Amino acid sequence: MRHVISIGDFSRKDLDALLYDADKMLSYIRKGKVLHLMEGKIMGALFFEPSTRTRLSFEAAMHRLGGRVIGFAEPAATSLAKAETVADTVKTVAQYCDVIAMRSPFPGAAKLASEVSPVPIINGGDGAREHPTQTMLDLFTIKKELGKLDGLKVAMVGDLKYGRTVHSLCKAFTNYKNTEFIFVSPPGLRIPSQYKRGEYRETTKLELEDADVIYVTRIQKERFTDPTEYEKLKGVYRITPETLETLKKKAIVMHPLPRVDEIDWRCDSDPRCVYFKQAYYGVPTRMAIIRLALGGEKK
Ligand code: NCD
Repeated sequence: MRHVISIGDFSRKDLDALLYDADKMLSYIRKGKVLHLMEGKIMGALFFEPSTRTRLSFEAAMHRLGGRVIGFAEPAATSLAKAETVADTVKTVAQYCDVIAMRSPFPGAAKLASEVSPVPIINGGDGAREHPTQTMLDLFTIKKELGKLDGLKVAMVGDLKYGRTVHSLCKAFTNYKNTEFIFVSPPGLRIPSQYKRGEYRETTKLELEDADVIYVTRIQKERFTDPTEYEKLKGVYRITPETLETLKKKAIVMHPLPRVDEIDWRCDSDPRCVYFKQAYYGVPTRMAIIRLALGGEKK
């Protein structure tokens, strides 16, 4: 049993093994193979915050492994509405299932859950802090598309202050050699200093010509305390077909999604824009993550 709380808890060796397993899962999906690896197991999906991809790809992953899923996507329909604490909800649901995937608006919620839960906790996002499973599928995507994770120039674009996917991805890259970051954000949404590692440059402009990976993010409206601040910053960057013309031929454009208007939909047909493929890779990656958490037997 292993909790998945912070990407910082995973070494390069751990990540390599996970990506290897995800690749095996991908080939099973592609062959339409029916797996029974999690037969008789139940996953609890506790989503205290909106989610489309994370929740549904976790569900799909568990189904593809032969397991079942219980849970909620709307905390208003649970005893939280009766003022039950998150800790008590987790302790209760853990009585019904073998592993829990959860998302919360509170930084540190998954860590807290892991301290009270008798079953493994998988962090599907805790406020603006971390989103480790997104990072695992981001790494998987980069590896599949570019064939390597060392020696890459990675541009992070958008809301680098509140974007938890950016925070976890920056941490993960400390495992790989010679990463160079280009942090592109408005002055008010700069990357917090604890995530700046190794070589980097910071800019407010879309200077992406030399980047191998362009990781675009949504301005995280729900994290702003002042709505007028959001109004000022929304729409600050927009990747268009003209932007794509300035990129390397082999660059990839990623986005954890959902997008608002930061990538023009006319870009979607460019083979370098891999964000829907990235979502697709969420299923095999999360199959591997569930196996890791539950110590799935080898096939
Ligand atoms: C991200 C998240 O929830 O942090 N979405 C996701 O999990 N794919 C990004 C976002 O909401 O902007």
